[in-house]
Amino acid sequence: MIEWKGESRYRVKSSLLPKGHEGIRAQQNPNAFQMFDKFFQENQFDFVIEIGTSFGGFSLYLYEQSIQHNWDFITYDYSKFKNGIWSNRRKDLKDIWDGELKFDFRDKDVFHQDTIDEISHIIKNNKCLVLCDGGDKPKEIQIYSEYLQPGSYIMGHDYSPSKQYHKQHHKNKVWNWLELMDSDVQDTMHQYNLQKPSEYYQGFCDVVWLCLIKG
Ligand SMILES: C[S@@+](CC[C@H](N)C(=O)[O-])C[C@H]1O[C@@H](n2cnc3c(N)ncnc32)[C@H](O)[C@@H]1O
Repeated sequence: MIEWKGESRYRVKSSLLPKGHEGIRAQQNPNAFQMFDKFFQENQFDFVIEIGTSFGGFSLYLYEQSIQHNWDFITYDYSKFKNGIWSNRRKDLKDIWDGELKFDFRDKDVFHQDTIDEISHIIKNNKCLVLCDGGDKPKEIQIYSEYLQPGSYIMGHDYSPSKQYHKQHHKNKVWNWLELMDSDVQDTMHQYNLQKPSEYYQGFCDVVWLCLIKG
C-alpha cells in the first residue's frame, strides 16, 4: 500500500515519457493503479472508455494497459466545460509528444446527443469497461449503462457507499472528494440490471471507485 498524503494529484510515470520525467498528473489515489492492474489481468475487453481525461495521467496509464492487453482505448473530455478553465490541462502531455496526444482523445460533451450516439454504438457492440470520471458521475452511469452488453463493466469515481462511510473510511485516509454514493445509482442499478461484483467491489471501493457489472 502506498501512503496517501491528502493530494488530489498523483504523477503517473511511463516509458512513453522522456527519461527522468516527473510524470503526468492523475486525479487518483496511488493505490488505484494496482487494483486496475489486477482487474485488467483478469478481464479482457474490446474497448475501455474513460469519461474525463483532465491532465491525462490516468489516460496515460490506461493507454499503456491497452497496448499490453490489446484492447482499444478512448478518452473523452470537453474543453468548453466550466467556460474552458481546464482546457489547458493536456498541454504538458501534448508538448512532450510534439503537439499530439498518442491516445484517442475526443473533445466532446458526453451529455450531447451526438456523443451519446457515438459511445452507445461502441458499447452495444463490444465488451467494454466505461470509466465515469467526468462532471456528473451518477448521470454518466445512468445514461451509459442502458447500452452496455451483459458482462460489460461500468465504474464511477469519487465513490463512497454513503456519507457516513466516506467520513469513517475514506475522508483524510483515501480521498476527500465524494461525488457518487449508492443512493445516486440505486434506481439505475435496478433499471439496467447492474450488480456489484463480489470479487472486485470492495477492492475498488477501497480506492473510491464503484465497480458494477451488467447482468
Ligand atoms: C475529475 S476530472 C477527470 C480525472 C481523470 N480521469 C484522472 O483520473 O486524472 C473530470 C474531467 O471531466 C471533464 N468533464 C466535465 N464535464 C464533461 C462533459 N460533459 N463531457 C466530457 N468531459 C467532461 C472535465 O473537463 C474534467 O477534466
